[in-house]
Amino acid sequence: MRLGNALSIGDIERLARRRLPRVVYEGIASGVEDERGLIRNETEFHPYRLVPRAFADVTKRDQSASLFGRTYASPFGISPTGIAGIFRRDAELMLARAASEARVPFVMSGASMVSIERMARVDPANTWFQLYAARDPKISDDFLRRARDAGFGTLVLTVDNPVPPKRERDARNGFRLPPKLAPLDMIEAALLHLPWVIDYLCRGGMPVMETWAPYAAPGAGAAEVARFFRTQSPSIQTWRDLDGFRRAWPGRLVVKGIMRPSDAVRCAEHGVDGLVISNHGGKALDRAPASIEILPAIKAAVGDRLAVMLDSGVRRGSDIVVARCLGADFVFVGRATLYGVAAAGLAGASRVLAILREEIDTTLGLIGCPRFDELGPDFILEEAREALPSESPLPRPIARAV
Ligand SMILES: Cc1cc2nc3c(=O)[nH]c(=O)nc-3n(C[C@H](O)[C@H](O)[C@H](O)COP(=O)(O)O)c2cc1C
Repeated sequence: MRLGNALSIGDIERLARRRLPRVVYEGIASGVEDERGLIRNETEFHPYRLVPRAFADVTKRDQSASLFGRTYASPFGISPTGIAGIFRRDAELMLARAASEARVPFVMSGASMVSIERMARVDPANTWFQLYAARDPKISDDFLRRARDAGFGTLVLTVDNPVPPKRERDARNGFRLPPKLAPLDMIEAALLHLPWVIDYLCRGGMPVMETWAPYAAPGAGAAEVARFFRTQSPSIQTWRDLDGFRRAWPGRLVVKGIMRPSDAVRCAEHGVDGLVISNHGGKALDRAPASIEILPAIKAAVGDRLAVMLDSGVRRGSDIVVARCLGADFVFVGRATLYGVAAAGLAGASRVLAILREEIDTTLGLIGCPRFDELGPDFILEEAREALPSESPLPRPIARAV
Protein backbone atom coordinates (compact mmCIF):
# COMPACT_ATOMS: atom_id res chain seq x y z
CA MET A 1 0.00 0.00 0.00
CA ARG A 2 1.16 3.56 -0.77
CA LEU A 3 0.35 6.76 1.07
CA GLY A 4 -1.95 7.95 -1.71
CA ASN A 5 -4.05 4.78 -1.32
CA ALA A 6 -4.37 5.08 2.46
CA LEU A 7 -8.03 5.53 3.31
CA SER A 8 -8.06 5.42 7.07
CA ILE A 9 -5.89 6.02 10.12
CA GLY A 10 -5.65 2.22 10.33
CA ASP A 11 -4.07 2.17 6.85
CA ILE A 12 -1.60 4.86 7.90
CA GLU A 13 -0.72 2.89 11.02
CA ARG A 14 0.06 -0.13 8.82
CA LEU A 15 2.37 2.02 6.69
CA ALA A 16 4.20 3.21 9.80
CA ARG A 17 4.46 -0.33 11.05
CA ARG A 18 6.04 -1.38 7.79
CA ARG A 19 8.62 1.41 7.83
CA LEU A 20 9.66 1.31 11.49
CA PRO A 21 11.58 -1.47 13.23
CA ARG A 22 9.17 -3.41 15.46
CA VAL A 23 10.55 -2.03 18.70
CA VAL A 24 10.36 1.55 17.45
CA TYR A 25 6.81 1.14 16.10
CA GLU A 26 5.75 -0.33 19.43
CA GLY A 27 7.19 2.73 21.16
CA ILE A 28 4.27 4.61 19.62
CA ALA A 29 1.65 1.87 19.83
CA SER A 30 2.35 0.68 23.38
CA GLY A 31 0.43 1.48 26.54
CA VAL A 32 1.12 0.55 30.15
CA GLU A 33 0.79 -2.67 32.19
CA ASP A 34 -1.91 -4.86 30.55
CA GLU A 35 -2.78 -2.12 28.03
CA ARG A 36 -6.47 -2.26 28.93
CA GLY A 37 -6.69 1.53 29.02
CA LEU A 38 -5.23 1.68 25.53
CA ILE A 39 -7.95 -0.65 24.20
CA ARG A 40 -10.67 1.06 26.23
CA ASN A 41 -9.83 4.48 24.75
CA GLU A 42 -10.81 3.27 21.29
CA THR A 43 -13.60 0.84 22.07
CA GLU A 44 -15.50 3.27 24.28
CA PHE A 45 -16.17 5.36 21.18
CA HIS A 46 -17.76 2.43 19.38
CA PRO A 47 -21.17 2.03 21.08
CA TYR A 48 -22.26 5.58 20.21
CA ARG A 49 -24.76 5.75 17.36
CA LEU A 50 -25.38 8.97 15.42
CA VAL A 51 -29.03 9.43 14.46
CA PRO A 52 -29.38 11.08 11.02
CA ARG A 53 -31.76 13.99 10.45
CA ALA A 54 -33.72 13.76 7.18
CA PHE A 55 -34.30 16.48 4.57
CA ALA A 56 -31.53 18.72 5.88
CA ASP A 57 -29.80 20.88 3.28
CA VAL A 58 -26.22 19.69 3.56
CA THR A 59 -25.04 21.09 0.23
CA LYS A 60 -22.50 23.21 2.09
CA ARG A 61 -20.82 21.82 5.18
CA ASP A 62 -18.73 23.80 7.65
CA GLN A 63 -16.46 22.14 10.20
CA SER A 64 -14.56 25.25 11.24
CA ALA A 65 -14.28 25.74 14.99
CA SER A 66 -13.35 28.71 17.16
CA LEU A 67 -11.09 28.37 20.13
CA PHE A 68 -9.25 31.00 22.18
CA GLY A 69 -10.13 33.76 19.73
CA ARG A 70 -8.97 31.90 16.59
CA THR A 71 -10.99 30.13 13.96
CA TYR A 72 -9.50 26.82 12.88
CA ALA A 73 -10.36 25.01 9.65
CA SER A 74 -11.27 21.85 11.57
CA PRO A 75 -12.27 21.07 15.16
CA PHE A 76 -9.18 19.03 15.96
CA GLY A 77 -5.46 19.55 16.47
CA ILE A 78 -2.24 17.63 17.07
CA SER A 79 -1.45 16.51 20.63
CA PRO A 80 2.09 16.81 21.99
CA THR A 81 4.17 13.71 21.36
CA GLY A 82 7.67 13.71 22.80
CA ILE A 83 10.71 12.09 21.21
CA ALA A 84 8.98 12.16 17.80
CA GLY A 85 12.41 12.78 16.26
CA ILE A 86 13.25 9.14 16.95
CA PHE A 87 10.50 7.95 14.63
CA ARG A 88 11.68 10.33 11.90
CA ARG A 89 14.32 13.03 12.16
CA ASP A 90 12.70 16.47 12.66
CA ALA A 91 9.24 14.88 12.77
CA GLU A 92 8.14 17.65 15.15
CA LEU A 93 8.81 20.33 12.52
CA MET A 94 6.86 18.32 9.94
CA LEU A 95 3.90 17.94 12.29
CA ALA A 96 3.93 21.69 12.96
CA ARG A 97 4.08 22.41 9.22
CA ALA A 98 1.25 19.98 8.44
CA ALA A 99 -0.92 21.57 11.15
CA SER A 100 -0.13 25.06 9.90
CA GLU A 101 -1.03 24.15 6.32
CA ALA A 102 -4.27 22.48 7.45
CA ARG A 103 -5.03 25.47 9.74
CA VAL A 104 -5.37 23.37 12.89
CA PRO A 105 -3.41 23.86 16.14
CA PHE A 106 -0.18 22.01 16.90
CA VAL A 107 1.01 21.33 20.44
CA MET A 108 4.77 21.11 20.71
CA SER A 109 5.88 18.57 23.32
CA GLY A 110 8.15 19.70 26.11
CA ALA A 111 10.10 16.51 25.45
CA SER A 112 10.71 17.32 21.78
CA MET A 113 13.93 16.55 20.02
CA VAL A 114 13.58 19.91 18.26
CA SER A 115 14.31 23.07 20.24
CA ILE A 116 11.69 25.72 20.95
CA GLU A 117 13.79 28.16 18.96
CA ARG A 118 13.86 25.97 15.83
CA MET A 119 10.15 25.25 16.18
CA ALA A 120 9.45 28.98 16.34
CA ARG A 121 10.52 29.27 12.70
CA VAL A 122 7.55 27.21 11.50
CA ASP A 123 4.34 28.95 12.63
CA PRO A 124 4.54 30.20 16.23
CA ALA A 125 1.07 31.74 16.16
CA ASN A 126 -0.29 28.26 15.47
CA THR A 127 1.87 26.46 18.05
CA TRP A 128 1.07 25.74 21.66
CA PHE A 129 3.80 24.68 24.07
CA GLN A 130 3.35 21.69 26.38
CA LEU A 131 5.37 21.75 29.56
CA TYR A 132 6.56 18.84 31.63
CA ALA A 133 7.31 20.88 34.74
CA ALA A 134 10.86 20.27 35.94
CA ARG A 135 11.84 19.34 39.50
CA ASP A 136 14.02 22.46 39.44
CA PRO A 137 11.52 25.33 39.15
CA LYS A 138 14.17 27.55 37.55
CA ILE A 139 14.12 25.23 34.53
CA SER A 140 10.33 25.45 34.26
CA ASP A 141 10.56 29.25 34.49
CA ASP A 142 13.09 29.26 31.70
CA PHE A 143 10.86 27.07 29.53
CA LEU A 144 8.09 29.65 29.98
CA ARG A 145 10.45 32.46 29.02
CA ARG A 146 11.61 30.60 25.89
CA ALA A 147 8.04 29.70 24.87
CA ARG A 148 6.95 33.32 25.35
CA ASP A 149 9.94 34.66 23.41
CA ALA A 150 9.15 32.18 20.64
CA GLY A 151 5.68 33.70 20.29
CA PHE A 152 3.66 30.69 21.44
CA GLY A 153 0.40 31.96 22.91
CA THR A 154 -0.85 28.86 24.74
CA LEU A 155 0.84 26.85 27.48
CA VAL A 156 -0.30 23.27 28.09
CA LEU A 157 0.61 21.79 31.45
CA THR A 158 0.51 17.98 31.44
CA VAL A 159 -0.41 16.55 34.82
CA ASP A 160 -1.26 12.91 34.21
CA ASN A 161 2.02 11.25 35.09
CA PRO A 162 3.42 12.65 38.34
CA VAL A 163 5.42 9.43 38.72
CA PRO A 164 6.85 7.24 35.96
CA PRO A 165 4.16 4.96 34.51
CA LYS A 166 4.81 1.22 34.18
CA ARG A 167 5.46 0.79 30.46
CA GLU A 168 6.00 -2.94 30.35
CA ARG A 169 6.03 -3.41 26.59
CA ASP A 170 8.64 -0.66 26.18
CA ALA A 171 10.73 -2.14 29.01
CA ARG A 172 10.65 -5.61 27.44
CA ASN A 173 11.57 -4.12 24.07
CA GLY A 174 14.45 -2.04 25.41
CA PHE A 175 12.65 1.03 24.08
CA ARG A 176 14.18 3.78 26.16
CA LEU A 177 16.47 6.76 25.58
CA PRO A 178 18.69 5.81 23.86
CA PRO A 179 16.91 2.68 22.53
CA LYS A 180 18.74 -0.54 23.36
CA LEU A 181 17.73 -3.19 20.85
CA ALA A 182 18.30 -6.91 21.45
CA PRO A 183 20.45 -8.63 18.77
CA LEU A 184 17.39 -10.31 17.19
CA ASP A 185 15.59 -6.98 16.97
CA MET A 186 18.64 -5.44 15.34
CA ILE A 187 18.64 -8.18 12.70
CA GLU A 188 14.90 -7.66 12.14
CA ALA A 189 15.49 -3.91 11.74
CA ALA A 190 18.37 -4.37 9.30
CA LEU A 191 16.55 -6.97 7.19
CA LEU A 192 13.06 -5.51 7.06
CA HIS A 193 13.39 -1.78 7.76
CA LEU A 194 16.65 -0.81 6.12
CA PRO A 195 15.57 2.67 4.91
CA TRP A 196 14.71 3.66 8.47
CA VAL A 197 17.96 2.21 9.83
CA ILE A 198 20.08 3.98 7.19
CA ASP A 199 18.32 7.29 7.81
CA TYR A 200 18.73 6.92 11.59
CA LEU A 201 22.42 6.00 11.41
CA CYS A 202 23.38 8.50 8.68
CA ARG A 203 21.96 11.30 10.80
CA GLY A 204 24.04 10.32 13.78
CA GLY A 205 21.76 7.86 15.63
CA MET A 206 19.60 9.09 18.46
CA PRO A 207 18.87 12.82 18.14
CA VAL A 208 19.61 15.18 21.02
CA MET A 209 16.60 16.34 23.00
CA GLU A 210 17.17 19.95 22.07
CA THR A 211 14.40 21.25 24.34
CA TRP A 212 16.33 20.08 27.41
CA ALA A 213 19.92 20.38 26.13
CA PRO A 214 20.47 23.93 27.51
CA TYR A 215 20.00 22.61 31.07
CA ALA A 216 22.29 19.57 30.83
CA ALA A 217 26.07 19.72 31.13
CA PRO A 218 27.70 21.80 28.37
CA GLY A 219 28.41 19.68 25.31
CA ALA A 220 26.29 16.77 26.61
CA GLY A 221 25.43 14.16 23.99
CA ALA A 222 22.00 12.66 23.25
CA ALA A 223 22.16 9.97 25.94
CA GLU A 224 23.41 12.38 28.59
CA VAL A 225 20.69 14.95 27.87
CA ALA A 226 18.07 12.18 28.00
CA ARG A 227 19.46 11.02 31.34
CA PHE A 228 19.34 14.60 32.64
CA PHE A 229 15.71 14.89 31.49
CA ARG A 230 14.89 11.80 33.53
CA THR A 231 16.39 13.40 36.66
CA GLN A 232 13.97 16.33 36.24
CA SER A 233 10.80 14.69 34.96
CA PRO A 234 8.30 13.52 35.95
CA SER A 235 7.83 15.97 38.78
CA ILE A 236 5.00 16.22 41.28
CA GLN A 237 2.90 19.35 40.93
CA THR A 238 0.27 20.78 43.29
CA TRP A 239 -2.52 23.35 42.96
CA ARG A 240 -0.08 25.88 44.37
CA ASP A 241 2.28 25.17 41.46
CA LEU A 242 -0.62 25.66 39.09
CA ASP A 243 -1.19 29.11 40.62
CA GLY A 244 2.50 29.86 40.05
CA PHE A 245 2.18 28.93 36.37
CA ARG A 246 -1.00 30.99 36.10
CA ARG A 247 0.82 34.04 37.49
CA ALA A 248 3.92 33.52 35.35
CA TRP A 249 2.22 32.78 32.02
CA PRO A 250 0.44 35.74 30.41
CA GLY A 251 -1.22 33.74 27.62
CA ARG A 252 -3.82 30.98 27.57
CA LEU A 253 -3.24 28.22 30.08
CA VAL A 254 -4.46 24.68 29.42
CA VAL A 255 -4.21 21.71 31.79
CA LYS A 256 -3.87 18.33 30.08
CA GLY A 257 -4.77 15.08 31.80
CA ILE A 258 -7.88 16.07 33.77
CA MET A 259 -10.26 13.18 34.53
CA ARG A 260 -12.39 14.34 37.48
CA PRO A 261 -15.26 16.82 37.22
CA SER A 262 -14.23 18.28 40.59
CA ASP A 263 -10.69 18.89 39.30
CA ALA A 264 -12.13 20.49 36.18
CA VAL A 265 -14.15 22.90 38.32
CA ARG A 266 -11.08 23.65 40.39
CA CYS A 267 -9.07 24.38 37.24
CA ALA A 268 -11.69 26.97 36.28
CA GLU A 269 -11.45 28.50 39.75
CA HIS A 270 -7.66 28.73 39.40
CA GLY A 271 -7.94 30.76 36.21
CA VAL A 272 -7.22 27.99 33.71
CA ASP A 273 -8.54 28.73 30.20
CA GLY A 274 -9.01 25.18 29.01
CA LEU A 275 -8.48 21.55 29.88
CA VAL A 276 -7.77 18.43 27.90
CA ILE A 277 -9.53 15.33 29.17
CA SER A 278 -6.78 12.81 28.53
CA ASN A 279 -5.20 9.68 29.90
CA HIS A 280 -2.06 10.18 27.80
CA GLY A 281 -3.44 7.83 25.16
CA GLY A 282 -3.30 4.92 27.61
CA LYS A 283 0.34 5.56 28.42
CA ALA A 284 -0.10 6.63 32.07
CA LEU A 285 -2.67 4.94 34.36
CA ASP A 286 -3.96 1.68 32.91
CA ARG A 287 -7.15 1.84 34.98
CA ALA A 288 -8.03 5.39 34.00
CA PRO A 289 -11.42 5.85 32.36
CA ALA A 290 -11.53 6.47 28.63
CA SER A 291 -11.68 10.21 27.96
CA ILE A 292 -14.98 9.88 26.08
CA GLU A 293 -16.56 8.15 29.10
CA ILE A 294 -15.77 11.00 31.43
CA LEU A 295 -16.48 13.87 29.01
CA PRO A 296 -20.23 14.30 29.71
CA ALA A 297 -19.68 14.55 33.48
CA ILE A 298 -16.88 17.10 33.08
CA LYS A 299 -18.87 19.19 30.62
CA ALA A 300 -21.86 19.12 32.97
CA ALA A 301 -19.65 20.29 35.83
CA VAL A 302 -17.89 23.19 34.11
CA GLY A 303 -20.28 24.21 31.33
CA ASP A 304 -18.71 27.09 29.40
CA ARG A 305 -16.41 28.30 32.17
CA LEU A 306 -13.42 26.96 30.28
CA ALA A 307 -12.74 25.19 27.00
CA VAL A 308 -13.30 21.45 27.30
CA MET A 309 -11.02 19.49 24.99
CA LEU A 310 -10.33 15.78 24.70
CA ASP A 311 -7.81 13.33 23.37
CA SER A 312 -7.07 9.59 23.68
CA GLY A 313 -8.47 6.98 21.33
CA VAL A 314 -9.57 9.18 18.43
CA ARG A 315 -9.14 7.27 15.16
CA ARG A 316 -12.09 8.44 13.03
CA GLY A 317 -13.65 11.74 12.06
CA SER A 318 -16.90 10.35 13.45
CA ASP A 319 -15.18 9.98 16.86
CA ILE A 320 -14.65 13.75 16.77
CA VAL A 321 -18.31 14.27 15.85
CA VAL A 322 -19.38 12.07 18.79
CA ALA A 323 -17.09 14.00 21.14
CA ARG A 324 -18.65 17.26 20.00
CA CYS A 325 -22.17 15.89 20.53
CA LEU A 326 -21.18 15.00 24.09
CA GLY A 327 -19.83 18.48 24.81
CA ALA A 328 -16.20 18.73 23.63
CA ASP A 329 -15.17 22.12 22.28
CA PHE A 330 -12.13 20.68 20.54
CA VAL A 331 -10.42 17.33 20.03
CA PHE A 332 -6.77 16.28 19.63
CA VAL A 333 -5.02 13.28 18.13
CA GLY A 334 -1.65 11.87 19.17
CA ARG A 335 -0.80 8.55 17.55
CA ALA A 336 -2.71 9.18 14.31
CA THR A 337 -0.44 12.02 13.15
CA LEU A 338 2.62 10.36 14.66
CA TYR A 339 1.97 7.28 12.50
CA GLY A 340 1.53 9.59 9.52
CA VAL A 341 4.79 11.45 10.02
CA ALA A 342 6.68 8.23 10.81
CA ALA A 343 5.33 6.59 7.65
CA ALA A 344 5.83 9.42 5.17
CA GLY A 345 7.04 12.66 6.79
CA LEU A 346 5.15 15.87 6.11
CA ALA A 347 3.02 14.21 3.43
CA GLY A 348 2.03 11.45 5.88
CA ALA A 349 1.03 13.88 8.62
CA SER A 350 -0.92 15.97 6.11
CA ARG A 351 -2.69 12.85 4.82
CA VAL A 352 -3.86 12.00 8.34
CA LEU A 353 -5.27 15.48 8.85
CA ALA A 354 -6.99 15.27 5.45
CA ILE A 355 -8.51 11.86 6.23
CA LEU A 356 -9.96 13.10 9.53
CA ARG A 357 -11.23 16.24 7.84
CA GLU A 358 -12.91 14.25 5.04
CA GLU A 359 -14.46 11.83 7.54
CA ILE A 360 -15.94 14.69 9.56
CA ASP A 361 -17.28 16.25 6.38
CA THR A 362 -18.90 12.99 5.27
CA THR A 363 -20.36 12.36 8.72
CA LEU A 364 -21.87 15.85 8.87
CA GLY A 365 -23.46 15.26 5.46
CA LEU A 366 -24.80 11.83 6.33
CA ILE A 367 -26.36 12.89 9.63
CA GLY A 368 -27.95 16.00 8.14
CA CYS A 369 -26.00 18.58 10.14
CA PRO A 370 -24.30 21.15 7.88
CA ARG A 371 -22.39 22.89 10.67
CA PHE A 372 -20.09 21.23 13.18
CA ASP A 373 -20.98 23.83 15.81
CA GLU A 374 -24.65 22.82 15.60
CA LEU A 375 -23.93 19.28 16.78
CA GLY A 376 -25.44 18.36 20.10
CA PRO A 377 -26.64 15.43 22.20
CA ASP A 378 -29.81 15.05 20.10
CA PHE A 379 -27.69 13.38 17.41
CA ILE A 380 -26.68 10.59 19.80
CA LEU A 381 -28.82 7.50 20.31
CA GLU A 382 -28.32 7.18 24.02
CA GLU A 383 -30.25 3.96 24.49
CA ALA A 384 -27.81 2.22 22.18
CA ARG A 385 -25.06 2.76 24.66
CA GLU A 386 -26.99 1.05 27.43
CA ALA A 387 -28.48 -1.75 25.34
CA LEU A 388 -25.51 -2.82 23.28
CA PRO A 389 -23.07 -5.33 24.65
CA SER A 390 -19.70 -3.67 24.90
CA GLU A 391 -17.51 -4.23 21.86
CA SER A 392 -14.63 -4.13 24.25
CA PRO A 393 -13.15 -7.43 25.38
CA LEU A 394 -13.10 -5.90 28.86
CA PRO A 395 -15.83 -5.82 31.46
CA ARG A 396 -17.85 -2.62 31.01
CA PRO A 397 -16.45 0.20 33.10
CA ILE A 398 -18.93 2.40 34.93
CA ALA A 399 -18.76 6.12 34.25
CA ARG A 400 -19.72 8.10 37.29
CA ALA A 401 -19.33 11.74 38.17
CA VAL A 402 -16.54 12.14 40.71
C1 LIG B 1 4.79 8.29 21.50
C2 LIG B 1 3.96 9.23 22.34
C3 LIG B 1 4.60 10.28 22.99
C4 LIG B 1 3.86 11.16 23.78
N1 LIG B 1 4.49 12.23 24.37
C5 LIG B 1 3.76 13.13 25.07
C6 LIG B 1 4.39 14.29 25.59
O1 LIG B 1 5.57 14.53 25.40
N2 LIG B 1 3.61 15.14 26.31
C7 LIG B 1 2.28 14.92 26.53
O2 LIG B 1 1.62 15.72 27.20
N3 LIG B 1 1.66 13.83 26.03
C8 LIG B 1 2.38 12.95 25.29
N4 LIG B 1 1.75 11.87 24.74
C9 LIG B 1 0.30 11.73 24.88
C10 LIG B 1 -0.41 12.50 23.75
O3 LIG B 1 -0.26 13.88 23.90
C11 LIG B 1 -1.91 12.22 23.72
O4 LIG B 1 -2.45 12.48 24.98
C12 LIG B 1 -2.25 10.79 23.30
O5 LIG B 1 -1.38 10.33 22.29
C13 LIG B 1 -3.67 10.79 22.80
O6 LIG B 1 -4.09 9.48 22.52
P1 LIG B 1 -4.09 8.85 21.04
O7 LIG B 1 -2.66 8.52 20.75
O8 LIG B 1 -4.95 7.67 21.20
O9 LIG B 1 -4.62 9.90 20.10
C14 LIG B 1 2.47 10.97 23.94
C15 LIG B 1 1.85 9.91 23.28
C16 LIG B 1 2.56 9.05 22.48
C17 LIG B 1 1.85 7.96 21.76
